[in-house]
Amino acid sequence: MVSQNHYQLTESDLNNLKAWFSQYVQSFHSTDPIVQEALVLKEKHSLRVCNEIRNIGKELGLDDNNMRLAEVMALFHDIGRFEQYTRYQTFVDKKSENHGELGVKVLQQEKALAALDEETQELILKAISYHNRLSVPEDESAVCIYFSKLLRDADKLDIFNLVSTYYYVDHAERSAAVELDLPDLPEVSAEIMDSLQEGKMISMQQLRSLNDFKLLQMAWVYDINCQPTFQMIHERGYLKKIRDTLPASERIDQIYFGLLSYLKRNSGFSDPKQLCPI
Ligand SMILES: [Fe+2]
Repeated sequence: MVSQNHYQLTESDLNNLKAWFSQYVQSFHSTDPIVQEALVLKEKHSLRVCNEIRNIGKELGLDDNNMRLAEVMALFHDIGRFEQYTRYQTFVDKKSENHGELGVKVLQQEKALAALDEETQELILKAISYHNRLSVPEDESAVCIYFSKLLRDADKLDIFNLVSTYYYVDHAERSAAVELDLPDLPEVSAEIMDSLQEGKMISMQQLRSLNDFKLLQMAWVYDINCQPTFQMIHERGYLKKIRDTLPASERIDQIYFGLLSYLKRNSGFSDPKQLCPI
């Protein structure tokens, strides 16, 4: 399906866009170490998402052109974060503005994609604006839905990596930028566990503690689309790593095993090119 699309992005386009990205990020350089640390966090995240999207894309059999398109989406998906942090000193969208939409505005204002044809620009901008929505609009074209889901998977894969290792870092070294300023209380809210066991979505407003946030992050497996991504999450043991930082509790175990069996079921498709659920 995606192999027959007409969107074009050459190797030299990709190299130019990578150069633009690093110059743009440099332009936000701050002498305040807290600000600089936050910006570097997002720069590194963006580059790792590029790697992850290539890892997933390879398993899905994307051709070179589609692989480059996917990589540009990954590179720019959080481009709004730099202006967001500089302007509002936070990565919390609720306290500032939607960073996906802001990213689209930045790319348009800076004319960063001007060398590409209009349809390709539009596809990239849409995938960026959908990367942090609750879900991808169903009335979009199949190609747009495909790339948007691929991008969301690559982004989550790196966030899983980040959070599953991050919780092992000494508390004093942790940064509020990652934890959304939530208190590290010993308990998990009953409301959050109820929602998870009933298969309901959890909203950010329901979160009361860092442990609630960890459970929410584990539940992101419900928002994964591609079989190779399920497999990578499983093989890398991300769920277990996060679960091991939560208190010993039978209910948390039940939730963990429920999520794990969902993950295993979805890792097992015979055709790795199957991008579910489309
Ligand atoms: Fe993002």
